[in-house]
Amino acid sequence: MSKEKSGAAQSVVHSLTVQAGPNIAVAKYWGKRDAGPLNLPINSSLSFTLDHSDIHATTTVAASTDFAKDRIWLNGREEPVVKRVATVLRELRKRCTDPARKKCGLRIVSRNSFPTAAGMASSAAGYCALTVAVAGVLRVAASYPGELTAVARMGSGSACRSLLGGLVQWHKGVKADGTDSIATQIQPAGHWPINMTVVVVSAEKKLVSSSSGMQTSVRTSDLLAHRAGALVDGRIAALKAAHAAKDFARFGELVMRDSNQFHATCLDTYPPIFYLNDVSRCIIRVVHGLNAHVGRVVAAYTFDAGSNAFVFSEPQHTALVNAVIAHFFPGENSPKKRTRLDVGVCMAELEARLKMKPLAAGTVTRLYHSKVGGGPRSYSTAELSLMDTDTWLPK
Ligand code: DP6
Repeated sequence: MSKEKSGAAQSVVHSLTVQAGPNIAVAKYWGKRDAGPLNLPINSSLSFTLDHSDIHATTTVAASTDFAKDRIWLNGREEPVVKRVATVLRELRKRCTDPARKKCGLRIVSRNSFPTAAGMASSAAGYCALTVAVAGVLRVAASYPGELTAVARMGSGSACRSLLGGLVQWHKGVKADGTDSIATQIQPAGHWPINMTVVVVSAEKKLVSSSSGMQTSVRTSDLLAHRAGALVDGRIAALKAAHAAKDFARFGELVMRDSNQFHATCLDTYPPIFYLNDVSRCIIRVVHGLNAHVGRVVAAYTFDAGSNAFVFSEPQHTALVNAVIAHFFPGENSPKKRTRLDVGVCMAELEARLKMKPLAAGTVTRLYHSKVGGGPRSYSTAELSLMDTDTWLPK
């Protein structure tokens, strides 16, 4: 699995590149029962892993006894090895079966193909790719994916769900040591093709990080306590049933309700946290307007800890959904305007129903198109490597 290279003065370098997609929760994780290092949640959660062809984190890891210390480069800049990364590396080294590799220093180069820390689950893709790549390079003996999901969770909770494709559940677990707080696949990506349109409202770093936001919510929101204690398990069961039955109307409604309830707990947090902005609220309005216009749920939105929207649709409705989004939210890469004949809905009628005109061009920065996809992929070839294989520094 790993590429081995011996230079004149260099000992063996083991290297591997992993590409992982982010995931988007349809039943949100919000709140920790252990803030670290175990990072355990107060409720289970459910998500779709995004196909990693366009939106992904790519991470190359190289290990060698020549590397005096662990080093990491994120999106082109060397960064300190923060506590969460150090925890993941420590947990993986603990499980390393090869005494020579256990002593290796690690160099890690990671890049996102999408904005970091803007509510697009960049940490999930990043920590997933990091965990899988380091585990491969260190020949870690861990049940895959079970135990590895628990290690990824210590980097970032939502990351554990990206180790699998399709519809994935992170089981909150009950044990104090967190060994049962793992992710499992509920349905493979092929069970039900769902497309996603990601509307990037803001690529700015969010003001309140998920970690600190959820700590404040756990401390102050009665609504969050009620949600985690009495509501989420039922919602997850209902979502799984609707997904198994490929019932988009039911599934979509549950997804939108869960997003709204999560953001309600943010508002119930004291002081309140606002992740949605006016443009996000316009997207919500347009999706409900479109569904009412068509007479059934053909589009469903969800928002994480940021203002960007993830809009789901079944393939037969994606052209319509994309045309409506592009009409009301022209972004820099919006397709050209579609006519009623193309997509079956007259935009002027929709504008009249919504009493809303398209927003100014540029309010939305970008649209990404993705779909539910498989889990991470490993590559040992040099082309995808982010490191120069002579210097073992970023290319
Ligand atoms: C709103 O996984 O980023 O996206 O465990 O502190 O790293 P940490 O939090 P993180 O939180 C994600 C929160 C969410 C909902 C979700 O993905 O389930």
